[in-house]
Amino acid sequence: MQQAIAVLDSGVGGLTVVKEVMRQLPQEKVIYFGDTARSPYGPRPAEEVRTFTRQIVDYLIQFNPKMIVIACNTATAVAIEDIRSRVSVPVLGVISPGARAAIKTTRSGVIGVIGTDGTIRSNAYVHALRSIAPSIQVYSEACPLLAPFVEKGLFEPHEADAVVEQSLRKLVGKPIDCLILGCTHYPFLAQAIAKVMGPNVTLISSADETAREISAILSHRRMLAEPGALPIHQFFCSGETEVFKKIAESWLKDQLSITPVVWQVP
Ligand code: SIN
Repeated sequence: MQQAIAVLDSGVGGLTVVKEVMRQLPQEKVIYFGDTARSPYGPRPAEEVRTFTRQIVDYLIQFNPKMIVIACNTATAVAIEDIRSRVSVPVLGVISPGARAAIKTTRSGVIGVIGTDGTIRSNAYVHALRSIAPSIQVYSEACPLLAPFVEKGLFEPHEADAVVEQSLRKLVGKPIDCLILGCTHYPFLAQAIAKVMGPNVTLISSADETAREISAILSHRRMLAEPGALPIHQFFCSGETEVFKKIAESWLKDQLSITPVVWQVP
């Protein structure tokens, strides 16, 4: 049986990473877990997010994955080291890949970061960016209203324009040349965010870079699936399956038919 890449998030945001994994590594099987019953993680205390992340990893590990991807910035910021100390498979988060992509992109050395309260409070992006380029200047802004909007399926053009505009108000006019979408839910709103930030600000989604790092790690360990393999993906969520299914099918387009399985939170 093909070993899977296990991807987890507080809800539907990690599907932005899954989409890139499916595009870059079509032979790889994905097992996805969205903790939709307890989303959003952003306003929760760090210890609670660590507990939830541990519970999900304990659940996913029964599928014997070859790798775990924490496709949630809030959970990456507070739980990645804890998870790495608990499992023997490689664990990848989304903050380092996002920071690396921004450093490759910026010309001015002035970068914006948006994320949940938890991610921005943790300063994880500032640390990740400055560990690569110590003189980088960072403008960070918490946008707590955005992820819950996406979880409701409100990400079609115009649906979220007002809330996006309000959330980004303090960043408009700042001398940034790229903006890290420091929450995996935000690529759903990329069009609205780009409209507010204007053409001189490049949006950075960690999804592409995370998929590239998954590929590099698996290749280095000689764990890539055989070319031509036809994976059967699995999707789990802890909340309403119909909403999850609708969002996942619309985001992943016709790539697959999704049957989410409900997991009862402990
Ligand atoms: C959230 O659950 O608040 C958003 C998830 C993320 O930080 O990527």
